[in-house]
Amino acid sequence: MIEVHQGPAWVDPARPAPARIYDYLLRGKHNFESDRAAAERIMSLVPEIRDCAWANRGFHQRAAKWIAERGIRQFIDIGSGLPTVGNTHEVVQFVNPACRVVYVDNDPMVAEHSQELLDDPDRTRVVQADLRQPGALLAHPDLRDLIDFSQPAGLLMTAVVHFVSDASNPWGLVARYMGELAPGSYLSLSHLTDDQKPPRSVAEFRRVFDHATAQMHFRSRPEVERLFDGLELVPPYGKGTAGWLCYAGDWGADDPGLADSDGSRWLYSGVARLP
Ligand SMILES: C[S@@+](CC[C@H](N)C(=O)[O-])C[C@H]1O[C@@H](n2cnc3c(N)ncnc32)[C@H](O)[C@@H]1O
Repeated sequence: MIEVHQGPAWVDPARPAPARIYDYLLRGKHNFESDRAAAERIMSLVPEIRDCAWANRGFHQRAAKWIAERGIRQFIDIGSGLPTVGNTHEVVQFVNPACRVVYVDNDPMVAEHSQELLDDPDRTRVVQADLRQPGALLAHPDLRDLIDFSQPAGLLMTAVVHFVSDASNPWGLVARYMGELAPGSYLSLSHLTDDQKPPRSVAEFRRVFDHATAQMHFRSRPEVERLFDGLELVPPYGKGTAGWLCYAGDWGADDPGLADSDGSRWLYSGVARLP
């Protein structure tokens, strides 16, 4: 493990942050002691959480690739996280080098470390913005520069909406972002759930985020389904779940037997088309 001693001056290393906890779960090196302690606490409660993180990342990549294969050439990745293996622009530009990606995250460390992804500003930009402030996010000059809102786009919101409280109306926010996009655009979204999970583990898992930079809001299947209101869920879905959300590992899995894991079952996932 390479110890990261410093982030940008305004980052508080003593306060765990979702991006860095996730980075630790994915065995990255951009995390502090507070993040590792938080992740280790979650692992002690939910031993399959590392598998959950990988299942989510796999869904993120398969869905982005699938959307690019439908001919979409521009992507907005909200809650993009710290750079990792198989970043969004690498996945979609493998399908078509002309694909453009705007990474958006509210964590200043993500903005700083994502600079390393910016070897081609005509195809990749990084924006620091909070998804709970759609006006400011959508007006950001880097986003407006790279995304043509008259053409379909892919909106990727994986493992981020569970950091938005009911009071901030995640349903209205997703609808607002999709409402800005042209017909034929796609939404890819995954979300942690506490459905059929041990209540004590869920309560303690949530508590780990009480003093973090963002809090955790698990949601039930109907609550996650409502995020897709007005959109058409599209195949490949998961095995036996046609027309419904599925667990993260199942979506478009090559081997549905292997994909169905305890970790995967912490996340509902889906891809939908804007009619
Ligand atoms: C668990 S990571 C997911 C990373 C990536 N989307 C993936 O699925 O692999 C969640 C990310 O969402 C970001 N995030 C949390 N709340 C946010 C908000 N209100 N606005 C923008 N980003 C946010 C965090 O900083 C973190 O980088």
